[in-house]
Amino acid sequence: MLKGKTIVLGITGSIAAYKMANLASMLVKLNADVEVIMTQNATNFIHPITFETLTNKKCMVDTFDRNFQFQVEHVSLAKRADVVMVAPATANVIAKMAYGLADDMLTTTVLACECKKIVAPAMNTRMFHNPAVQENLKRLQAYGMEVIQPEKGMLACRDIGDGKLPDPEILLAYILKEVAFEKDLKGKKVLVTAGPTVEAIDPVRYITNHSTGKMGYAIARNCMMRGADVTLVTGPTSIPKPHFVNVIEIQSAREMFEAVKACAEEQDIIIKSAAVADYRPKYIHDEKIKKNGSSMTLELEKTDDILKYLGEHKKKGQFLCGFSMETENMIQNSREKLKKKNVDMIAANNLKQAGAGFGTDTNVITLITEKQTKQLELMTKDEAAKQIIDEILRCQKEKENGEAYEKNV
Ligand code: CTP
Repeated sequence: MLKGKTIVLGITGSIAAYKMANLASMLVKLNADVEVIMTQNATNFIHPITFETLTNKKCMVDTFDRNFQFQVEHVSLAKRADVVMVAPATANVIAKMAYGLADDMLTTTVLACECKKIVAPAMNTRMFHNPAVQENLKRLQAYGMEVIQPEKGMLACRDIGDGKLPDPEILLAYILKEVAFEKDLKGKKVLVTAGPTVEAIDPVRYITNHSTGKMGYAIARNCMMRGADVTLVTGPTSIPKPHFVNVIEIQSAREMFEAVKACAEEQDIIIKSAAVADYRPKYIHDEKIKKNGSSMTLELEKTDDILKYLGEHKKKGQFLCGFSMETENMIQNSREKLKKKNVDMIAANNLKQAGAGFGTDTNVITLITEKQTKQLELMTKDEAAKQIIDEILRCQKEKENGEAYEKNV
């Protein structure tokens, strides 16, 4: 995801500096070119060798280090950087950046960088709430820097309050949002549904399915990283919710239908990857159903077909993508759904194919539109999400070009 991107990590003298080793490692695994700059104080908390081993590069501490092949390193690095993250940022370094002071490698580089700068303060909660620190943070924001709010919890000094550096996964999400993809969905609103629905039988029991939400969450994340304003309507799942996405949690098909209806009209793209129950118990018993006799029958009624409703109420220019999970006759059944539900594209997968289906980190998808059937290879759900969005954008462009052509003839 980060191939060809230069990420500068500026690490300052806070105990939270140790968390940055994990972040550096995550970035390297995503193929980023990671450059680490530490203040002299930061080296008291974690040794530069840790970062040198992880990034396979010299960790910069001293502005006047002569090992930099006679380049003015802070300037050449500043020119190459795609994003700079100063984390943990101490009150001292925040103050220096707020007033343009540049007396070490980190602050000189930050000053010379024209790319996006993200600052994650970490310090004692009393220091964090000191008006001087708060004023300095506002100054950084006024200069266009993004400030990540510290988390609440027990701090190194045993005080409880906000001042904790967020976990590396969260810091990574900020970096990915900034540089992972071209922002080709900027200005677009995207609605994604994901996960299973849960249909109550009584206060103890319910009917559900094996969906884990992985595919839908990957789609929501991909759209967010491409600049879209994303709403995710999700059934119960155990996987982490994507960052920077408006998440609406529901339980039943009826709740999903209501949540989707409430925001469908304003969407440019709707992707329905949820595994919605087709039937629900006709009556939800108020009390636990007691065991009685050797068998029991549960009366079920049909749920609303949300995708079909969306197809019937599609506004001009809106793109509707449904999913189709089959165990046989995948293409034929999916084509029927495409037509019956007035959908622009169906992402079909065969549950019986190795590497596809519920719970796996991979999928084998076939993208079906009126004009074509495109078989994707076995790939990660993150990659499949990217391919689905690429195809939606390609179809939209093709349609726009076709309409423009018709207008001109
Ligand atoms: N879907 C929906 N509302 C339902 C059932 C399904 O919106 N009540 C959507 C799913 O989110 C998916 C698509 O319809 O995008 C196809 O779902 P799938 O379960 O494969 O097919 P069904 O239409 O339910 O038909 P069948 O179960 O008979 O294959």
